[in-house]
This record gives sequence, structure tokens and C-alpha cells, in this order.
Amino acid sequence: MALSMSAAAFCGSLRRNIWSTILVTNAANSVVRFENVGMRYGAGPEVLRDITFALPPASFHFLTGPSGAGKSSLLRLMYLANRPSRGMVSLFGDDVSKIPRRALPELRRSIGVVFQDFRLLDHQSVFDNVALPLRVAGGKESQIRKHVSELLQWVGLEDALHNLPSTLSGGEQQRVAIARAVISRPRLLLADEPTGNVDDAIAVRLLYLFEELNRMGTSILIATHNEGLVSRFKHRQLHLEGGKIEFRHTGSDA
Ligand SMILES: Nc1ncnc2c1ncn2[C@@H]1O[C@H](COP(=O)(O)OP(=O)(O)OP(=O)(O)O)[C@@H](O)[C@H]1O
Ligand SMILES: [Mg+2]
Repeated sequence: MALSMSAAAFCGSLRRNIWSTILVTNAANSVVRFENVGMRYGAGPEVLRDITFALPPASFHFLTGPSGAGKSSLLRLMYLANRPSRGMVSLFGDDVSKIPRRALPELRRSIGVVFQDFRLLDHQSVFDNVALPLRVAGGKESQIRKHVSELLQWVGLEDALHNLPSTLSGGEQQRVAIARAVISRPRLLLADEPTGNVDDAIAVRLLYLFEELNRMGTSILIATHNEGLVSRFKHRQLHLEGGKIEFRHTGSDA
């Protein structure tokens, strides 16, 4: 995996952003589409209201907004942990309320998720945590060993392969969670505050990893409070506030 972004990759990214702007209106093509979605927990108030947007294939967006705005809730609807209280959510062109139950595991395997609280398997090593999605997909063990080792090297954890997650720092656990989410090159990557526990240099390195994945065709949505990253990496923004969503443009994306 290349360590820094090449000029060609940069131009590719720029081209994609132009397409992202055009395709966002082409709903049929969308990886994710929300139409008038509302969501509440139990009998509580709506935390998301009248949310309508679409994410085109191979797009890259940041999801911003104050604490409590509903970023994690929005992501939960996308990885099918919650259902909307009203409106329609579609993934890869299919209305999720109409997808048969037996098709859900495969759909879930197309989505990589970095959880805000990591959710690593405590009794399994770092290596086994990251290898899990490839093993579930039936990959060959020799290939798995190669891919997992390469990726753990990229995120700076090559010396922690055999450690249990509980022996790692918060930032190290976060990098394991990221490696596990990207290892199988999902069609859609949802990352909830993926740089919340790491220093700036590592955060930038992780963003390069996400950009590389994006260059290979994965649509990326990253919930973040890190304004430095949002202004440095010129990707489009979905901004949530007061239960409502709006698109924002930054720098070269405008
Ligand atoms: N399991 C839950 N049960 C009830 N209410 C919840 C639950 N999870 C979140 N909420 C409420 O939904 C609203 C949105 O929360 P959410 O976690 O989606 O915000 P967020 O934008 O991700 O915040 P942060 O930036 O702090 O992670 C908040 O008012 C929160 O209290
Ligand atoms: Mg959150």
C-alpha cells in the first residue's frame, strides 16, 4: 500500500468529487439514499427529522455536527442497527424495509463499520480481530496472513499482532477497529469518530488509508468533530444540526 498520495491519486480524487456533485441528484445510482427519514428512540422525541440525501458510488463525505446532533444515529440506520420511524432508507439501490431477512448478512458484509466504542472481540488477538471479516468471507489463510500483516504495519501495529485488545491504548484499539473495517474492501465504509483517540500525525495517516480505499471504489462517510481534518482533506460535508441535514462544500469541492 502506497504511503502517501500520488499526484495521479490526487487528480482522481478531484475528478471523483466533481462526479460526486453531479451524481448526488441521480438517486437511482446511489449507494445510500434517505427520503424524508425520521428516527426516534422508543417513545422519545425525533432525533432525526425529514432527512433526505443520497451518497453516490465512490464518494467521500465527512459527517459533521455538534455532540448529540444525531451522527451516530444516522450511521446506525445505514448499518441496519436501527430502523427509521418514518421515511425510506435504501442501500445499494434497495429499500431496506423490503430486503428479505436472509439477504441481510451478505448486505452487512458489504459495509465496513468503525464503531465509536470500537467493539473489538476482547478474547481474540489483534490479528484475529482484523482477520475476522476475511475468515467469514472464506478467504485462504495464507492470503489472510499476508493482508492482515500488511495492513497492521500500515496502521503502525505490526508489533501488537498477538496482543489482546485490552492490553492496548485507546488509540491503538481504534486503529485495530479501523483495520478490521477496511480489510475486506467494503463497498461502503462508515466510520464514527475514527480519529477521536489518536494524535494528528496518525489521524492524517488514517485519512490517507481511507482515501486509498476510496480510490479503489469504496464510498466513505466519516463522522468527525476534527475540524482540522475536515479543512485539510477537501471532501464534501454532510452537516447535522437540530435533527436536520445539509450539504456543505469545502475548498476545492465547492
Ligand atoms: N440508545 C439511545 N436511546 C435513547 N436516546 C438515544 C440513544 N442513542 C442516542 N440517543 C439520543 O439521540 C440523540 C443523538 O445522539 P447521537 O449519539 O446520534 O449523537 P452524535 O451526533 O453521534 O453525538 P456525539 O458527537 O456526541 O457522538 C441524542 O439526544 C441522544 O441522547
Ligand atoms: Mg456519536
